[in-house]
Amino acid sequence: MHREDFPILNDNNNLVYFDNGATTLKPKCVIDSIVDYNSKYTSNAHRGDYKNSLTVDNLYEGTRKKVMQFINAKEVSEIVFTSGTTDSLNRIVFGYFKNILHKDDEVLITLSEHASNVLPWFVLQEELGIKVKYIPLNENNEVTLENVKSVINENTKVISLAHITNVIGDTRPIKEISKLAHENNIYMVVDAAQSVPHIKVNVQELDVDFMAFSAHKMYSTTGVGVLYGKFDLLDKMKPLTYGGGMNAIFTKDGYYELREIPTRLEAGTQNIEGVLALGSVIDYLNSIGMDNIYKYEHNLRKYLIDELSKLDFIDLYNKDNDSAIVAFNIKGVFSQDTAVYLDKYNICVRAGNHCAKILNNVFHINNTCRISLSFYNTKEEIDLLINVLKNSKNIWQEIL
Ligand code: ALA
Repeated sequence: MHREDFPILNDNNNLVYFDNGATTLKPKCVIDSIVDYNSKYTSNAHRGDYKNSLTVDNLYEGTRKKVMQFINAKEVSEIVFTSGTTDSLNRIVFGYFKNILHKDDEVLITLSEHASNVLPWFVLQEELGIKVKYIPLNENNEVTLENVKSVINENTKVISLAHITNVIGDTRPIKEISKLAHENNIYMVVDAAQSVPHIKVNVQELDVDFMAFSAHKMYSTTGVGVLYGKFDLLDKMKPLTYGGGMNAIFTKDGYYELREIPTRLEAGTQNIEGVLALGSVIDYLNSIGMDNIYKYEHNLRKYLIDELSKLDFIDLYNKDNDSAIVAFNIKGVFSQDTAVYLDKYNICVRAGNHCAKILNNVFHINNTCRISLSFYNTKEEIDLLINVLKNSKNIWQEIL
């Protein structure tokens, strides 16, 4: 649905884009927003007293309000613009938890987390002597409440999980885990990069302490992310960058005062055109409706799974999950070879370990082909994929 809104799909290039987990295509409203900023009212934000600057201030802060409403945060000051999910997660770890965790405190993650929810914690383990522990996954590589309970102890201070994982697309029961976490005085951090573009995410209902996501996976541009934090926690976060815009005063003898949040956490000139584009895409997604997006993608996924299941030469790894992500391999074919073969037919999928390099400890497969769907994908595109896969017995002749 809404394919007409995406210029790249209307370019007669027969593009079949199934790599939305990596980044999504951009609708015209996003492109227009960037062109408008650069051609009609270019100026910095929060620094000028002329008309264009005030227009930009309003649009920039207006986007913060739109993000607040989109994820149902309580206050605009709980929304910080960053450069992406990775940046947001690093700020959460090094700007907040580095200052409050101590030796032997435990942080719970899983083996299926993305690198950006693993490596910052490893660094804190090195620096502070905290312990990174893994919540065991069940036979379908999912997190259950029981498994979380089984590893919580008096040293557990943080649980940090993807809402939907990027390799096998399982959706975690975040609301229930948050409740359990808070009953045990544990902080709850959520990487929502793969969920916010696909399902309605309500931070108050999930009761998470911190959350991170990226604009470019939700149809806007690269270089912009969101860091959500409950006000009282975010107010204690230390900036990782210092400079213009975030200070209230500084003197030559080293005295300085910083501004309130979120300004204190946004040093220097921000990615203004990217933030403004995020504002337009939120309007766009609201006009379609996140519930409609979920329903459409859910049905499309079901169709894809049904069709792939009919092919006895395909290994399908996450049949029973309910997200836009489908992981598979052609039996006996390296995933990257499959991706190169599909590309011959203009079908874009991602192959590899998808930045989740420790998942193979439980998954026992190093590489998969990943189809990650969006609302602009169609059953006809899936039919084409299935036909191309059916002809894959000639794969070696075609890609060599
Ligand atoms: N994290 C992105 C993905 O899963 C890049 O593809």
